[in-house]
Amino acid sequence: AVSPFRPDAAVSDICSETTELADIDWDSLGFAYVPTDYMYTMKCARGGIFSKGELQRFGNIELNPSAGVLNYGQGLFEGLKAYRKEDGNILLFRPEENALRMKIGAERMCMPSPTVEQFVEAVKATVLANKRWVPPPGKGSLYIRPLLIGTGAVLGVAPAPEYTFLIYVSPVGNYFKEGVAPINLIVEHELHRATPGGTGGVKTIGNYAAVLKAQSIAKAKGYSDVLYLDCVHKKYLEEVSSCNIFVVKDNVISTPAIKGTILPGITRKSVIDVARSQGFQVEERLVVVDELLDADEVFCTGTAVVVSPVGSITYKGKRVSYEEGGFGAVSQQLYTALTRLQMGLTEDKMNWTVGL
Ligand code: COI
Repeated sequence: AVSPFRPDAAVSDICSETTELADIDWDSLGFAYVPTDYMYTMKCARGGIFSKGELQRFGNIELNPSAGVLNYGQGLFEGLKAYRKEDGNILLFRPEENALRMKIGAERMCMPSPTVEQFVEAVKATVLANKRWVPPPGKGSLYIRPLLIGTGAVLGVAPAPEYTFLIYVSPVGNYFKEGVAPINLIVEHELHRATPGGTGGVKTIGNYAAVLKAQSIAKAKGYSDVLYLDCVHKKYLEEVSSCNIFVVKDNVISTPAIKGTILPGITRKSVIDVARSQGFQVEERLVVVDELLDADEVFCTGTAVVVSPVGSITYKGKRVSYEEGGFGAVSQQLYTALTRLQMGLTEDKMNWTVGL
Protein backbone atom coordinates (compact mmCIF):
# COMPACT_ATOMS: atom_id res chain seq x y z
CA ALA A 1 0.00 0.00 0.00
CA VAL A 2 1.24 3.46 -0.85
CA SER A 3 1.15 5.85 2.07
CA PRO A 4 2.25 9.35 1.20
CA PHE A 5 3.54 11.60 3.96
CA ARG A 6 4.17 15.27 4.33
CA PRO A 7 7.95 15.14 5.00
CA ASP A 8 8.02 17.16 8.20
CA ALA A 9 4.99 15.60 9.74
CA ALA A 10 5.83 12.11 8.63
CA VAL A 11 9.50 11.65 9.34
CA SER A 12 9.21 11.52 13.10
CA ASP A 13 6.41 8.94 12.85
CA ILE A 14 8.36 6.89 10.38
CA CYS A 15 11.55 7.11 12.45
CA SER A 16 9.83 5.83 15.52
CA GLU A 17 8.79 2.75 13.52
CA THR A 18 12.34 2.13 12.38
CA THR A 19 14.61 1.92 15.40
CA GLU A 20 15.55 -1.76 14.90
CA LEU A 21 18.07 -2.74 12.23
CA ALA A 22 16.65 -4.46 9.17
CA ASP A 23 16.85 -8.24 9.32
CA ILE A 24 19.41 -8.96 6.61
CA ASP A 25 22.89 -10.50 6.51
CA TRP A 26 25.04 -7.39 7.00
CA ASP A 27 28.20 -9.39 6.33
CA SER A 28 27.34 -10.20 2.76
CA LEU A 29 26.49 -6.79 1.32
CA GLY A 30 27.85 -6.09 -2.14
CA PHE A 31 26.64 -3.44 -4.53
CA ALA A 32 23.31 -4.93 -5.47
CA TYR A 33 19.79 -3.56 -5.29
CA VAL A 34 18.10 -4.20 -1.95
CA PRO A 35 14.57 -2.77 -1.71
CA THR A 36 14.05 -0.56 1.35
CA ASP A 37 11.03 1.06 3.02
CA TYR A 38 10.51 4.57 1.65
CA MET A 39 11.34 6.75 -1.32
CA TYR A 40 10.98 10.48 -1.80
CA THR A 41 9.32 12.12 -4.77
CA MET A 42 8.83 15.71 -5.83
CA LYS A 43 7.42 16.99 -9.12
CA CYS A 44 7.74 20.14 -11.16
CA ALA A 45 6.44 21.47 -14.48
CA ARG A 46 8.83 22.68 -17.22
CA GLY A 47 10.05 26.13 -16.28
CA GLY A 48 8.54 25.75 -12.84
CA ILE A 49 9.94 25.14 -9.39
CA PHE A 50 9.88 21.99 -7.31
CA SER A 51 7.54 22.00 -4.35
CA LYS A 52 5.69 19.67 -1.99
CA GLY A 53 7.95 16.64 -1.96
CA GLU A 54 6.76 13.60 -0.07
CA LEU A 55 7.93 10.32 1.31
CA GLN A 56 6.04 7.30 0.15
CA ARG A 57 6.39 3.57 0.45
CA PHE A 58 9.20 2.31 -1.78
CA GLY A 59 7.81 0.73 -4.92
CA ASN A 60 7.35 0.93 -8.66
CA ILE A 61 6.55 4.26 -10.25
CA GLU A 62 4.09 4.79 -13.07
CA LEU A 63 5.36 6.46 -16.25
CA ASN A 64 3.71 7.56 -19.47
CA PRO A 65 5.36 5.52 -22.28
CA SER A 66 6.08 8.86 -23.91
CA ALA A 67 8.01 10.20 -20.89
CA GLY A 68 11.08 12.24 -21.88
CA VAL A 69 13.39 10.03 -19.86
CA LEU A 70 12.22 6.83 -21.58
CA ASN A 71 12.34 8.19 -25.10
CA TYR A 72 15.18 10.66 -25.16
CA GLY A 73 17.21 9.91 -22.05
CA GLN A 74 16.44 13.17 -20.28
CA GLY A 75 17.64 12.13 -16.86
CA LEU A 76 20.36 12.59 -14.29
CA PHE A 77 21.33 10.68 -11.20
CA GLU A 78 23.47 11.24 -8.15
CA GLY A 79 25.09 8.96 -5.62
CA LEU A 80 26.04 9.61 -2.02
CA LYS A 81 26.34 7.62 1.16
CA ALA A 82 25.24 7.62 4.79
CA TYR A 83 27.34 5.89 7.46
CA ARG A 84 26.27 4.73 10.91
CA LYS A 85 28.65 5.74 13.69
CA GLU A 86 29.47 3.63 16.76
CA ASP A 87 27.19 5.90 18.82
CA GLY A 88 24.29 5.14 16.45
CA ASN A 89 24.26 8.57 14.85
CA ILE A 90 24.21 8.79 11.06
CA LEU A 91 26.55 10.88 8.90
CA LEU A 92 26.07 12.05 5.34
CA PHE A 93 29.12 12.92 3.26
CA ARG A 94 29.02 16.28 1.42
CA PRO A 95 25.37 16.12 0.27
CA GLU A 96 25.39 19.73 -0.90
CA GLU A 97 28.10 18.83 -3.43
CA ASN A 98 25.72 16.34 -5.03
CA ALA A 99 22.99 18.98 -5.03
CA LEU A 100 25.27 21.44 -6.80
CA ARG A 101 26.40 18.86 -9.34
CA MET A 102 22.79 17.98 -10.08
CA LYS A 103 22.01 21.66 -10.69
CA ILE A 104 24.86 21.92 -13.21
CA GLY A 105 23.80 18.70 -14.91
CA ALA A 106 20.17 19.81 -15.01
CA GLU A 107 21.17 22.98 -16.81
CA ARG A 108 23.02 20.91 -19.45
CA MET A 109 20.05 18.56 -19.85
CA CYS A 110 17.44 21.37 -20.01
CA MET A 111 15.77 20.32 -16.78
CA PRO A 112 14.71 22.29 -13.72
CA SER A 113 16.46 21.15 -10.55
CA PRO A 114 15.63 21.21 -6.85
CA THR A 115 17.40 23.88 -4.81
CA VAL A 116 20.40 22.79 -2.76
CA GLU A 117 18.26 23.07 0.38
CA GLN A 118 15.45 20.99 -1.12
CA PHE A 119 17.93 18.35 -2.25
CA VAL A 120 19.68 18.09 1.12
CA GLU A 121 16.42 18.10 3.11
CA ALA A 122 15.00 15.39 0.87
CA VAL A 123 18.14 13.27 1.32
CA LYS A 124 17.94 13.66 5.10
CA ALA A 125 14.24 12.78 5.17
CA THR A 126 14.78 9.70 2.99
CA VAL A 127 17.68 8.42 5.09
CA LEU A 128 15.81 8.98 8.35
CA ALA A 129 12.78 7.16 6.99
CA ASN A 130 15.01 4.22 6.04
CA LYS A 131 17.21 4.38 9.12
CA ARG A 132 16.98 0.65 9.82
CA TRP A 133 18.74 0.01 6.48
CA VAL A 134 21.89 1.98 7.38
CA PRO A 135 24.41 -0.82 7.99
CA PRO A 136 26.06 -1.22 11.40
CA PRO A 137 29.47 0.50 11.71
CA GLY A 138 32.12 -1.21 9.61
CA LYS A 139 29.59 -3.25 7.58
CA GLY A 140 29.01 -0.80 4.73
CA SER A 141 26.85 2.22 4.11
CA LEU A 142 23.46 3.30 2.87
CA TYR A 143 23.81 4.27 -0.78
CA ILE A 144 21.50 7.16 -1.64
CA ARG A 145 20.41 7.47 -5.25
CA PRO A 146 18.70 10.76 -6.22
CA LEU A 147 17.20 10.82 -9.73
CA LEU A 148 15.99 13.74 -11.79
CA ILE A 149 13.96 12.57 -14.76
CA GLY A 150 11.73 14.00 -17.46
CA THR A 151 8.43 12.29 -16.69
CA GLY A 152 6.16 14.43 -18.87
CA ALA A 153 5.09 13.07 -22.27
CA VAL A 154 6.88 14.18 -25.44
CA LEU A 155 6.90 12.84 -28.97
CA GLY A 156 9.19 15.17 -30.87
CA VAL A 157 12.66 15.81 -29.46
CA ALA A 158 12.09 18.48 -26.81
CA PRO A 159 12.42 18.97 -23.07
CA ALA A 160 9.67 17.13 -21.20
CA PRO A 161 6.77 19.19 -19.83
CA GLU A 162 7.11 17.66 -16.33
CA TYR A 163 9.98 16.44 -14.13
CA THR A 164 10.27 14.15 -11.14
CA PHE A 165 12.96 14.27 -8.50
CA LEU A 166 13.10 10.94 -6.71
CA ILE A 167 15.38 9.47 -4.04
CA TYR A 168 15.68 5.83 -3.13
CA VAL A 169 18.28 4.11 -0.97
CA SER A 170 19.92 0.72 -0.70
CA PRO A 171 22.41 -0.71 1.79
CA VAL A 172 25.76 -1.48 0.14
CA GLY A 173 29.16 -2.97 0.82
CA ASN A 174 32.00 -3.06 -1.71
CA TYR A 175 31.31 -2.11 -5.32
CA PHE A 176 33.65 -4.54 -7.04
CA LYS A 177 33.33 -8.26 -6.45
CA GLU A 178 37.04 -8.19 -5.59
CA GLY A 179 36.07 -6.33 -2.36
CA VAL A 180 39.05 -4.23 -1.34
CA ALA A 181 41.41 -6.50 -3.32
CA PRO A 182 42.93 -4.82 -6.39
CA ILE A 183 40.87 -4.72 -9.56
CA ASN A 184 42.10 -5.53 -13.05
CA LEU A 185 41.35 -2.97 -15.73
CA ILE A 186 41.64 -3.02 -19.49
CA VAL A 187 42.25 0.17 -21.45
CA GLU A 188 39.62 0.62 -24.15
CA HIS A 189 40.89 2.40 -27.24
CA GLU A 190 38.06 1.91 -29.71
CA LEU A 191 34.81 2.46 -27.85
CA HIS A 192 34.46 5.80 -26.07
CA ARG A 193 32.49 7.02 -23.12
CA ALA A 194 32.35 10.73 -23.91
CA THR A 195 33.14 13.32 -26.55
CA PRO A 196 34.17 16.98 -26.32
CA GLY A 197 31.02 19.08 -26.21
CA GLY A 198 28.97 16.07 -25.13
CA THR A 199 27.60 15.16 -21.73
CA GLY A 200 30.51 13.18 -20.25
CA GLY A 201 31.04 15.82 -17.58
CA VAL A 202 27.54 15.56 -16.12
CA LYS A 203 25.90 12.62 -14.45
CA THR A 204 23.35 11.86 -17.12
CA ILE A 205 21.97 8.34 -17.26
CA GLY A 206 23.03 7.84 -20.89
CA ASN A 207 26.73 8.05 -19.99
CA TYR A 208 26.32 4.80 -18.13
CA ALA A 209 24.39 3.02 -20.88
CA ALA A 210 27.25 4.04 -23.19
CA VAL A 211 29.81 2.03 -21.22
CA LEU A 212 27.89 -1.24 -21.04
CA LYS A 213 29.20 -2.68 -24.30
CA ALA A 214 32.91 -2.23 -23.56
CA GLN A 215 32.32 -3.24 -19.95
CA SER A 216 30.56 -6.48 -20.84
CA ILE A 217 33.29 -7.41 -23.34
CA ALA A 218 35.91 -6.71 -20.67
CA LYS A 219 34.06 -8.69 -18.01
CA ALA A 220 33.67 -11.66 -20.34
CA LYS A 221 37.46 -11.66 -20.63
CA GLY A 222 37.85 -11.63 -16.83
CA TYR A 223 38.61 -7.93 -16.28
CA SER A 224 36.89 -5.98 -13.53
CA ASP A 225 36.17 -2.91 -15.66
CA VAL A 226 37.29 -0.61 -18.47
CA LEU A 227 39.54 2.44 -18.44
CA TYR A 228 38.59 4.90 -21.18
CA LEU A 229 40.87 7.08 -23.28
CA ASP A 230 40.02 10.46 -24.80
CA CYS A 231 38.29 10.03 -28.15
CA VAL A 232 40.33 12.64 -30.04
CA HIS A 233 43.95 11.61 -29.45
CA LYS A 234 43.20 8.18 -28.00
CA LYS A 235 46.09 8.59 -25.60
CA TYR A 236 44.96 10.53 -22.53
CA LEU A 237 43.31 8.79 -19.61
CA GLU A 238 39.69 9.70 -18.94
CA GLU A 239 37.93 7.53 -16.37
CA VAL A 240 36.65 4.04 -15.56
CA SER A 241 32.96 3.18 -16.21
CA SER A 242 31.88 4.14 -12.71
CA CYS A 243 34.83 6.01 -11.18
CA ASN A 244 37.78 8.39 -11.62
CA ILE A 245 41.39 7.26 -11.98
CA PHE A 246 44.60 8.30 -10.20
CA VAL A 247 48.23 7.42 -10.96
CA VAL A 248 51.05 7.63 -8.39
CA LYS A 249 54.70 8.00 -9.37
CA ASP A 250 57.46 8.88 -6.89
CA ASN A 251 54.82 10.02 -4.37
CA VAL A 252 53.34 12.51 -6.84
CA ILE A 253 49.64 11.83 -7.41
CA SER A 254 48.19 12.65 -10.84
CA THR A 255 44.66 12.49 -12.15
CA PRO A 256 43.07 13.59 -15.44
CA ALA A 257 41.95 17.22 -15.28
CA ILE A 258 38.23 17.91 -15.52
CA LYS A 259 37.64 19.21 -19.03
CA GLY A 260 34.08 18.38 -19.96
CA THR A 261 34.44 14.68 -20.76
CA ILE A 262 35.26 13.49 -17.25
CA LEU A 263 32.79 13.26 -14.39
CA PRO A 264 33.77 15.68 -11.60
CA GLY A 265 33.72 13.11 -8.83
CA ILE A 266 33.05 14.27 -5.28
CA THR A 267 35.30 11.50 -3.97
CA ARG A 268 37.90 12.55 -6.56
CA LYS A 269 37.81 16.12 -5.28
CA SER A 270 37.84 14.97 -1.64
CA VAL A 271 40.79 12.64 -2.19
CA ILE A 272 42.73 15.46 -3.85
CA ASP A 273 42.09 17.72 -0.84
CA VAL A 274 42.91 14.98 1.67
CA ALA A 275 46.14 14.14 -0.20
CA ARG A 276 47.23 17.79 -0.33
CA SER A 277 46.42 18.22 3.37
CA GLN A 278 48.74 15.29 4.05
CA GLY A 279 51.58 16.91 2.11
CA PHE A 280 51.28 15.10 -1.21
CA GLN A 281 51.77 16.90 -4.48
CA VAL A 282 48.65 16.36 -6.59
CA GLU A 283 48.52 17.24 -10.28
CA GLU A 284 45.31 17.59 -12.28
CA ARG A 285 46.49 17.45 -15.87
CA LEU A 286 46.51 15.41 -19.06
CA VAL A 287 47.74 11.94 -18.08
CA VAL A 288 49.18 9.95 -20.98
CA VAL A 289 48.25 6.26 -21.11
CA ASP A 290 51.96 5.34 -21.26
CA GLU A 291 52.38 6.72 -17.75
CA LEU A 292 50.57 3.61 -16.53
CA LEU A 293 53.54 1.53 -17.62
CA ASP A 294 55.91 2.88 -14.99
CA ALA A 295 53.47 4.05 -12.29
CA ASP A 296 54.07 2.93 -8.72
CA GLU A 297 50.36 2.71 -7.91
CA VAL A 298 47.07 3.22 -9.70
CA PHE A 299 43.75 3.61 -7.91
CA CYS A 300 40.13 4.56 -8.61
CA THR A 301 37.84 6.85 -6.65
CA GLY A 302 34.08 7.22 -6.56
CA THR A 303 31.18 7.27 -4.15
CA ALA A 304 30.40 3.66 -4.91
CA VAL A 305 33.99 2.39 -5.20
CA VAL A 306 35.40 4.72 -2.46
CA VAL A 307 39.15 4.26 -3.08
CA SER A 308 39.87 1.03 -4.95
CA PRO A 309 43.39 -0.16 -5.70
CA VAL A 310 44.15 -1.26 -9.25
CA GLY A 311 46.19 -4.47 -9.40
CA SER A 312 46.82 -4.54 -13.12
CA ILE A 313 46.13 -2.69 -16.32
CA THR A 314 46.11 -4.24 -19.76
CA TYR A 315 46.72 -1.98 -22.73
CA LYS A 316 46.97 -3.26 -26.31
CA GLY A 317 47.74 -6.75 -25.05
CA LYS A 318 50.41 -5.68 -22.57
CA ARG A 319 49.70 -6.22 -18.86
CA VAL A 320 51.29 -4.09 -16.13
CA SER A 321 50.90 -5.17 -12.50
CA TYR A 322 51.09 -2.99 -9.41
CA GLU A 323 50.95 -3.88 -5.70
CA GLU A 324 50.21 -7.59 -5.43
CA GLY A 325 47.29 -8.48 -3.22
CA GLY A 326 46.48 -5.13 -1.66
CA PHE A 327 46.64 -1.37 -1.56
CA GLY A 328 49.81 0.53 -2.37
CA ALA A 329 51.12 2.74 0.44
CA VAL A 330 49.68 5.98 -0.96
CA SER A 331 46.23 4.65 -1.82
CA GLN A 332 46.04 2.88 1.55
CA GLN A 333 46.83 6.13 3.36
CA LEU A 334 44.21 8.03 1.39
CA TYR A 335 41.59 5.30 1.76
CA THR A 336 42.09 5.21 5.52
CA ALA A 337 42.02 8.99 5.90
CA LEU A 338 38.90 9.38 3.77
CA THR A 339 36.87 6.52 5.21
CA ARG A 340 37.71 7.40 8.83
CA LEU A 341 36.44 10.88 8.11
CA GLN A 342 33.27 9.59 6.41
CA MET A 343 32.54 7.23 9.29
CA GLY A 344 33.13 9.89 11.93
CA LEU A 345 36.22 8.17 13.35
CA THR A 346 38.44 11.23 13.00
CA GLU A 347 37.81 14.89 13.58
CA ASP A 348 36.18 16.42 10.50
CA LYS A 349 38.46 19.41 10.01
CA MET A 350 37.12 19.78 6.45
CA ASN A 351 33.56 20.17 7.67
CA TRP A 352 32.38 17.64 5.10
CA THR A 353 30.11 15.41 7.16
CA VAL A 354 26.52 16.24 7.98
CA GLY A 355 24.96 14.59 11.02
CA LEU A 356 21.31 13.56 11.00
C1 COI B 1 28.76 6.51 -7.69
O1 COI B 1 29.90 6.24 -7.39
O2 COI B 1 27.92 6.93 -6.87
C2 COI B 1 28.31 6.38 -9.04
O3 COI B 1 27.48 7.13 -9.43
C3 COI B 1 28.76 5.28 -9.84
C4 COI B 1 27.62 4.38 -10.18
C5 COI B 1 27.58 4.18 -11.61
C6 COI B 1 27.64 3.13 -9.39
